[in-house]
Amino acid sequence: MSKKVLAVYFTQSGQLGEIIDNFTRPLIASGATVEKLQIQPVNKFPFPWTTPVFFEAMPESVKLIPAELEPFTLKEIRYNLVIIGFQPWFLSPSIPISSLLQLPSFKSVLKDTPVITISGCRNMWINAQEKNKRLLKEAGANLVGNIALVDKHNNYASLVTIFYWMLTAKKDRKWGIFPKPGVSDEDIAGAALFGETVKENLGTGSWGDLQAKLVAQKAVDVKYHLMFIERKAGKIFTIWSKIIYGKKNRSSLLVVFKYYLLIALCVAAPLILLVDAIFFKPFLSKRIEKQKKYYSGVELI
Ligand SMILES: Cc1cc2nc3c(=O)[nH]c(=O)nc-3n(C[C@H](O)[C@H](O)[C@H](O)COP(=O)(O)O)c2cc1C
Repeated sequence: MSKKVLAVYFTQSGQLGEIIDNFTRPLIASGATVEKLQIQPVNKFPFPWTTPVFFEAMPESVKLIPAELEPFTLKEIRYNLVIIGFQPWFLSPSIPISSLLQLPSFKSVLKDTPVITISGCRNMWINAQEKNKRLLKEAGANLVGNIALVDKHNNYASLVTIFYWMLTAKKDRKWGIFPKPGVSDEDIAGAALFGETVKENLGTGSWGDLQAKLVAQKAVDVKYHLMFIERKAGKIFTIWSKIIYGKKNRSSLLVVFKYYLLIALCVAAPLILLVDAIFFKPFLSKRIEKQKKYYSGVELI
């Protein structure tokens, strides 16, 4: 009997839809039945965004406050594999995806089911994936694989280009100078390679070695400097979301947060990284390797 796979995702630009199409192609070619579902929140997020609305999404993203989703029906009650395509928003799963993972009817689909997460983002997905791990555990799902597709350009170049892309909806080169934003066309097409790997495990129904094989293929590649910034920023975002959420002067606080973020990323982060590189990193190589291994994996501690 053919294997039944559900691939559920959210996308604004279509990037994650392309990734899902390429990733699932080998599964379909092998005879699996792949049901694709693009979810939508009832109150749509704009694309292109405006700057205030972009920052408006921060507290609810970080606090995993669910939004209502458009109703959807699935063809099956149980699947052999569920693929979840997600994008991080403010170092957390995007609101549509965190809403989905908390939806009781979807949690029952996830229960006791192998799940693979696949993301398309700028370059910071670690915190979001830790939150996914927790939500999936609460749903009783069995996370067997994770693939993180990122913009591989310099962290500061991609900071400029992601805002250009998000605020104009144009995935092209800003002023003809900056690199193209988002995951490269080559890497989007390359998602098929990871689909080939998943195909083997789907065939046998045994998932134990999948993530190790994906890591060997560089389906996830934890970079130290990004991991370092994310670990710190994740904690700071949690504090800011608590300060801002439910407050009467929310809009003013979000403006303060916007400038804080700009200074933190462009001024404080490089300085802290420099201090770390001189005084800490050289003496912590074992701990760093352990952290990188953990974030590359699918376990939750
Ligand atoms: C509100 C918002 C916050 C974002 N925060 C992050 C983030 O924390 N880390 C990251 O790597 N990318 C971040 N991105 C980029 C997205 O993860 C994603 O790459 C981009 O929105 C394109 O996805 P799409 O398939 O929905 O079009 C953010 C985008 C938006 C709109």
